Amino acid sequence: MGIGFDEKNRLFFIETAHSSMCLAIVDDEGFLCNVYYGNPVGEDDLTYLLRTKIYPFLPSHNSRDRGGFLDMARMEFPSSGVGDYRNPAVCLRDAEGHDASQFTYVSHRIYTGKEKLYGTACDGKEIRIPATFGENAQTLEIELEEKVLGVSAFLSYSIFEDSDAILKSVKLVNKSDRTVIIDRLLSSSLDLDGGTFGNKAPDIITLSGSWARERRLDRRSLERGNTEVYSTRGVTSHQFYPFSALAEKNTDEEHGRVYAQTLIWSGNFLCGSGMDQFETTRSYIGINPEHFTWDLKPGESFQSPEAVLVYTEEGLGGMTHVFHDLFRDHLIRSPYLHKERPVLINNWEATYFDFDTEKLLNIARDAKESGIEMLVMDDGWFGKRNDDNSSLGDWIVNEEKLPGGLTRLSDELEKIGIKFGIWFEPEMVSPDSDLYRAHPDWAVAAPGRVPCKMRNQYILDITRTEVRDHVYESVAKVLRNAKISYVKWDMNRALTDLGSCGLSAESLGRLSYLYVLGVYDLQDRLITEFPDLLLENCSSGGGRYDGGMLFYSPQVWCSDDTDAFERLSIQAGTAMICPLSTMGAHVSASPNHVTGRVMPFDVRGAVALSGTFGYELDITKIPEEERKAIPEQVSIYHRYNEIIREGDYYRIAKNAEEGGYYDAWMSVMKDKSRALVTYIQCRAYPGGKGRVIRLRGLDPDAVYEIGLVGSDDENSFYCSRAKKASWESLAPGNLNGSSLMNAGLIMPNLPGDYAQLTFEINRI
Ligand code: GLA
Repeated sequence: MGIGFDEKNRLFFIETAHSSMCLAIVDDEGFLCNVYYGNPVGEDDLTYLLRTKIYPFLPSHNSRDRGGFLDMARMEFPSSGVGDYRNPAVCLRDAEGHDASQFTYVSHRIYTGKEKLYGTACDGKEIRIPATFGENAQTLEIELEEKVLGVSAFLSYSIFEDSDAILKSVKLVNKSDRTVIIDRLLSSSLDLDGGTFGNKAPDIITLSGSWARERRLDRRSLERGNTEVYSTRGVTSHQFYPFSALAEKNTDEEHGRVYAQTLIWSGNFLCGSGMDQFETTRSYIGINPEHFTWDLKPGESFQSPEAVLVYTEEGLGGMTHVFHDLFRDHLIRSPYLHKERPVLINNWEATYFDFDTEKLLNIARDAKESGIEMLVMDDGWFGKRNDDNSSLGDWIVNEEKLPGGLTRLSDELEKIGIKFGIWFEPEMVSPDSDLYRAHPDWAVAAPGRVPCKMRNQYILDITRTEVRDHVYESVAKVLRNAKISYVKWDMNRALTDLGSCGLSAESLGRLSYLYVLGVYDLQDRLITEFPDLLLENCSSGGGRYDGGMLFYSPQVWCSDDTDAFERLSIQAGTAMICPLSTMGAHVSASPNHVTGRVMPFDVRGAVALSGTFGYELDITKIPEEERKAIPEQVSIYHRYNEIIREGDYYRIAKNAEEGGYYDAWMSVMKDKSRALVTYIQCRAYPGGKGRVIRLRGLDPDAVYEIGLVGSDDENSFYCSRAKKASWESLAPGNLNGSSLMNAGLIMPNLPGDYAQLTFEINRI
């Protein structure tokens, strides 16, 4: 394990516990090529894999067919315009418009640790870019040079002792005395030989969706040409997650070689893979070149965000474990990461804009009685906002709704004994707001064009220091003056009409990147001034749910769709990459407000329990039997949250692959002592005799006791008597881990659609 350099053969080895990557400096010119990435192979000279001794050979042996070499070489930092016609990682332009570049090796250093990443804002301020961190890191930095343009590229590769991920980023430095335009700079490009996938086209797996149905799994065969997901919306987007994986055919949750990539970034991105004429695959990920150009002036540098590469031969489940552990151990900084989050009740779906202090206090009193620990006041408490047409930017409490302001409300909540959380949408301004009337030029807009409205709102140009300072102060002022434990930071529209008074015409292509830096700066200031604040990010649900935002908040509102059936796919997709402890998930009223679907209360609870857990309903109005069931649900949350938060997560069955009949997943503590298994019967299965689910992640030699959650309570709502009886007729005695993982458990047929069974598995 570690990073090494074989001077004789000019090879770099980047070795994690279960993977090796080998790079070579090739030919006299010093091209950097990817020789191998996959299972550990030791430090053999594998350069034969580059096929440089057969036609078209190396440029030094065949300069008349230099293009043939560039057209097939597995380039680690491919550039455009010189003979490699595949997707480039970098495109530069000189002052006269020439766009050819070729980077070759200059030097390298290998060091212990990992440096922080910084981007430069308009005013020259260095703003930290989210990236993984940790003590036990080692880094290889390779300097490549574009000799004609005088630009250096510093390619960085880091590993952590306890992770199988490789972290990659690139920094460009203009060492010349002329401005160079960056038209494209991706964070990672990875070329793999077709043989990697047994000379068969691999599958490409991505996550796609829309508002209210985020991050569903897409899987298809990689064809020749490129398959891409992307965002040009200024946020990561509901439509695609910055993730793709190449998986050999037949890869399932437990088996199969998977090469995955994701980006720690909260704005525009491009991510995909292509297969070329020689079956070489090229996977690439980074900032989307669309809406991006960067005029790199003499002496300036430009930093890319960090890409995460994961290789595993343990299928999609193995990939997920590497991502979850990396995010929990090396990316999420919040002091709440390993803590049980307070069970909250949010008034959005309860009241929408129609609330006042009394309504909120009534909800809070009933909530407190049921064991709920925090009330979150959502949109509508400020300016004259009684619908979504006005007041964003005017973060001044509406005393007509909340007489005595937030001080009175937070004092009253304190008396009730419940914490207080509040909603903001700081990056926005409504055309109908005092802020917009005073500063119409603060909105992102292109001259002569009325900016496109979305939800009747504009985006504030937080690339500008004075705008960012104002935004920060207006949020901080509210937090300084009331007892607020939690903030939901929302962002409800995408970027359009890219224009800014702060940027000159030549630098306008920086806007989308600088916007993201602005968000990071704001969130960084917030968690620095209010270190005890629990921050939850949100963007019309899960429109900006990514590793970048998780650097600031330990949780993100997963989706505006709280329908438990829809959530099965949304949460399973999100949890491909992001730990369960980050997924904002609430129990809402039935019929569901988005889908109209009717769903039992216990099923809604079982699905929300696999996230941060809370309620999104009017507790004063729900049926009495549901209200009575809340204390039991809350106590189940307290009892099992540690397993969900800290454990290893396994997808056991996905309803989309099971004819829509059932879904199941489990979490297992790292020491394998406890597990929680959730089984959802989505549709009744006529004539069935119960289906087997095989558990995972247990200690094969340990003996486990299997208990149906809720069954020890005579009056359990979570586990009715009928359910208990159906389970008991199929329940085994204690079983060893091996039996549970190989023979499995039989899930009884339950009457009707939508039913849940939750099991605790304890080592004895
Ligand atoms: C977004 C959020 C919701 C809610 C509304 C308020 O849509 O995702 O949860 O906060 O805004 O306007």
